[in-house]
Amino acid sequence: MVLYYRLVFNTGGEMGRVYAFVNQKGGVGKTTSAISLGAYFAEAGKSVLLVDFDSQANLSSGVGLRSAKPGVYELISGTASLTQVIRPTEIPNLSVIPASIDLSGATVELIGQAERDFFLKHALEPVRNTYDFILIDCPPSLGVLTINGMVAADAVLIPMQCEYFAMEGLSLLFQTIKRIQKKLNPHLEIGGIFFTMYDSRTRLAQEVVTKVCGYFKDKVFTTIVPRNVRLSEAPSFGKPISRYDPQCSGGKAYNSLAEEVMRRGA
Ligand SMILES: Nc1ncnc2c1ncn2[C@@H]1O[C@H](COP(=O)(O)OP(=O)(O)OP(=O)(O)O)[C@@H](O)[C@H]1O
Ligand SMILES: [Mg+2]
Repeated sequence: MVLYYRLVFNTGGEMGRVYAFVNQKGGVGKTTSAISLGAYFAEAGKSVLLVDFDSQANLSSGVGLRSAKPGVYELISGTASLTQVIRPTEIPNLSVIPASIDLSGATVELIGQAERDFFLKHALEPVRNTYDFILIDCPPSLGVLTINGMVAADAVLIPMQCEYFAMEGLSLLFQTIKRIQKKLNPHLEIGGIFFTMYDSRTRLAQEVVTKVCGYFKDKVFTTIVPRNVRLSEAPSFGKPISRYDPQCSGGKAYNSLAEEVMRRGA
């Protein structure tokens, strides 16, 4: 009974925290970061829900889900319930709502509707405080799905590659975040920016880090995720890095990034 009250009325005072992984640039590490941080939060004893909100369904396959229906598309279109779409993974405490290619059609369907930016938020509302963390993996665009992700979220986490062009998209991303804060989700925070696929041998990578840190200051996490082949191998085994190879440099980095996110309450 006590648990029931805590789940429904949140009388325990604990709030779940919802993060959207956003960067309209493709291939910067959004999905890898969502899976890896989710896994390390779960390994640390937190209850975590991953939401695959990209029709590429990379997050779903990355945690070993082959059949990904019903999934998030069915959830937001009202044809499946939360209990039908939430699946367990091999890590206790780590659950996932998968995606399928059907989600690509949702963009067109959503656009015509008045409530179009709030579908994901409303769909996740009943479990918002059931989990310590809900991590939403957004697609590489600033379209209606990513907007839904940021409207449902408490904070945005922005993975960034240490490349010259990586910085070019940031101002558009920040303008979009400001617009959402103003019109759709006044509570949305910038949880932080972190670097992925860092190669310490290149001077450019170091310059990009210095420049971004100078500009965004304490919004940049101190943990830097290196380029590490084990991170790119893990999805083909359907395993988060915490289970595939926790001792590799990428695993250690994501473990420490997870600790940093929790420590900061980012
Ligand atoms: N630190 C890393 N070191 C090496 N490879 C990595 C690293 N992080 C991610 N990768 C690989 O780089 C590719 C892109 O990463 P990922 O899919 O996480 O990016 P994404 O931002 O989600 O991409 P998309 O925009 O297409 O959704 C994947 O093949 C992934 O396995
Ligand atoms: Mg992705």
